[in-house]
Amino acid sequence: MTAVAGKVCVVTGAGSGIGRALALGLARRGARLALSDVNEAGLQATAADAGRAGGGAVHTQVLDVSDREGMTAYAATVASHFGVVHQIYNNAGIAHSNTILESEYEEYERVFGINLWGVIHGTKAFLPHVIASGDGHVINVSSLNGFLAQPDMSHYCTTKFAVRGFTETLRSEMRRDGHRVGVTVVHPGGIKTNIASAALNEARASGQEITPEDEQRERLYNEKLLKMDPAQAAEIIIKAVETDRPRVMVGNDAKLVDFLVRMLPARHQTLFAAAERRMRK
Ligand SMILES: NC(=O)c1ccc[n+]([C@@H]2O[C@H](COP(=O)([O-])OP(=O)(O)OC[C@H]3O[C@@H](n4cnc5c(N)ncnc54)[C@H](O)[C@@H]3O)[C@@H](O)[C@H]2O)c1
Repeated sequence: MTAVAGKVCVVTGAGSGIGRALALGLARRGARLALSDVNEAGLQATAADAGRAGGGAVHTQVLDVSDREGMTAYAATVASHFGVVHQIYNNAGIAHSNTILESEYEEYERVFGINLWGVIHGTKAFLPHVIASGDGHVINVSSLNGFLAQPDMSHYCTTKFAVRGFTETLRSEMRRDGHRVGVTVVHPGGIKTNIASAALNEARASGQEITPEDEQRERLYNEKLLKMDPAQAAEIIIKAVETDRPRVMVGNDAKLVDFLVRMLPARHQTLFAAAERRMRK
């Protein structure tokens, strides 16, 4: 059991959803927090709640995880502010929907920049500090789309499969090289956050044509698929860190999909497509 109390924990994408809930869960356990997000208002709201939740010191900084130099400078700032960094939760991420046929390369670059490069930037920038702490942990947030591919989600699925590969490689390197660093890849199922609405709003703002199907998909996710309270998701993730689990499924939906993908490697996509069609009715 790894105690979180007193540890310096870094959470990216802390302004909303799972990141905010992680910050509050860690604060309640007495962690010292370095919180960041591109959304300053959301970030400050989380920091205020974390302060009330009884955590130790809270450091905040507006940060875009896709900015490599920004992340490198941020890691140095956090390390010098607290003198040590124990845990990094690479959580920031966005969803996006479009077919492969119709997607522009820029759509891939944007999603890869945040969901994949953001995780690599956060890991590489903080890893020397996490190793130096002598009792560290790297937590990278993938998704059930880290093992299930779905139509119109090639950008997201590609990054989330890659986050799994990157994180599992890191774990094996830390083990082999004798570093006292736990590594956990997180595969959430549907968590009740702003992720689906944020994706549609961003697509609208960038001038992408929004079809009735896109709006129907947002409703399907918000009303039927994104079910778990983020606070419950955060508890599951933090407990997985405390017990040094290599991978954690968050929710029964993630556990079921993981099982079916492994049991039915050739047939699961047909089954899931049929299930989605039924749910849309
Ligand atoms: N909600 C779910 O059902 C679900 C399922 C599987 C995986 N996830 C993953 O969980 C993570 C958190 O998502 P969420 O559901 O809490 O979504 P959310 O939209 O509620 O929160 C994401 C946060 O990331 C921030 N963010 C976006 N781009 C950023 C950038 N470039 N730099 C820094 N911060 C940025 C947003 O401002 C927001 O505060 C993501 O990696 C997501 O892919 C979510």
